[in-house]
Amino acid sequence: MNSIDKNHIWHPYASVLNPKETIKIKSANGVYLTTEDNKELIDGMSSWWSVIHGYNNEKLNTAIKEQTSKMSHVMFGGLTHEPAIELTQKLLTILDDSLEHIFYSDSGSVSVEVAMKMALQYQYKENVSTKNRFLSVRRGYHGDTIGAMSVCDPVTGMHSLFSENLMQNYFVSEPKSKFDGTFDEHDLDEMKDVLEKEHENIAAVIIEPIVQGAGGMRIYHQAYLQGLRALCDKYNVLLIFDEIATGFGRTGKLFAYEHAGVVPDILTIGKALTGGYMTMAATITTTKVAKGIEEDGNILMHGPTFMGNPLACKVASTSIDLLFENDWQGNVSRIENYLKQNLTKCNEIQSVKEVRVIGAIGVVELHDNVDLAKATQEFVKRGVWIRPFMNLIYIMPPYITKENELQKLIDAIYETIQVLNDE
Ligand SMILES: Cc1ncc(COP(=O)(O)O)c(C=O)c1O
Repeated sequence: MNSIDKNHIWHPYASVLNPKETIKIKSANGVYLTTEDNKELIDGMSSWWSVIHGYNNEKLNTAIKEQTSKMSHVMFGGLTHEPAIELTQKLLTILDDSLEHIFYSDSGSVSVEVAMKMALQYQYKENVSTKNRFLSVRRGYHGDTIGAMSVCDPVTGMHSLFSENLMQNYFVSEPKSKFDGTFDEHDLDEMKDVLEKEHENIAAVIIEPIVQGAGGMRIYHQAYLQGLRALCDKYNVLLIFDEIATGFGRTGKLFAYEHAGVVPDILTIGKALTGGYMTMAATITTTKVAKGIEEDGNILMHGPTFMGNPLACKVASTSIDLLFENDWQGNVSRIENYLKQNLTKCNEIQSVKEVRVIGAIGVVELHDNVDLAKATQEFVKRGVWIRPFMNLIYIMPPYITKENELQKLIDAIYETIQVLNDE
């Protein structure tokens, strides 16, 4: 292990003083990561949902190179540029018509902060509001900044560690009805109750539509979102959909809200927005919300230094072109079918609780937590990169992943679970 990395660099959710092994990657191409010692690993994670077209894509490379020679960055205060205009035009064509106003930022967590700020400002009347808290569901994940943490699952979201510092928000149980099952109307009972009693204190509900990602990789029924939309309208509570993980085709629809046929008041996107090339996110809202924010003569008080970065905008708009050129829908449903036919074989293993698939996402939930170090070793030995958390082994590979590569990922999962069982 490199001594600079080992002694000085903080990795995500990791100790800096007593670090775990890291694998040095020297290059990446297509779906393959190449390690320092020339081992090729199929990336089952798309670098945390983002690299949907695979690595070292010629069109994305060219887009960045060409943009670099024109202008890598320019401040967005008082200035604008073609890459931002072009990206905005493309987003407007793929989003619901009501989502018309776009705020660009640098990461998913920041886009959630902006969404929360928009909701709070919308609820201000004459610059005051009692509607200043949020309602969310358990098992949700929205990022690691202070505001985003306050709407994450209270247990996995580090609430206890930061209990003195986080905004005190409301939580109800996670949606229980499964995506392809029947909908249990009682799923919304708690939500109804809290909204009925507390709506005067609630600015917005925030939720990941259809797939709850890092809080448990749960896939829930679209009718939940339809009921939730109606409740939010009834109680003048805004609805925020966090599509940072699910956006850009991952669930089989371009945006997961399309499964339910309901549109949020505020939408956050990130991760795959730039095809995983650069860090960028966006918060998008309706004219109704924009008007509400500005009603009392206010404006949205936010402005990151790298807002609307031209390189990120250019690569994001090229990534949207690539989605359609490369038939994202055909590829995602090809992956979905393959996972449904083959990943389900893991159900045979006793330690497996459930196998779930939607779009290009495959999840194997185990009864017990996974030994991460041991699992990583087994995966790497089998030529794949998969990073489990808690009791979940899951993959969301790039859309270009071929059947033989999917099979290699599935075999690695199947065999690794058995090795872990034998320990
Ligand atoms: C649903 C969701 N929201 C927000 C975030 C935070 O995004 P970022 O890591 O870019 O800050 C993530 C990241 O995993 C996510 O999955």
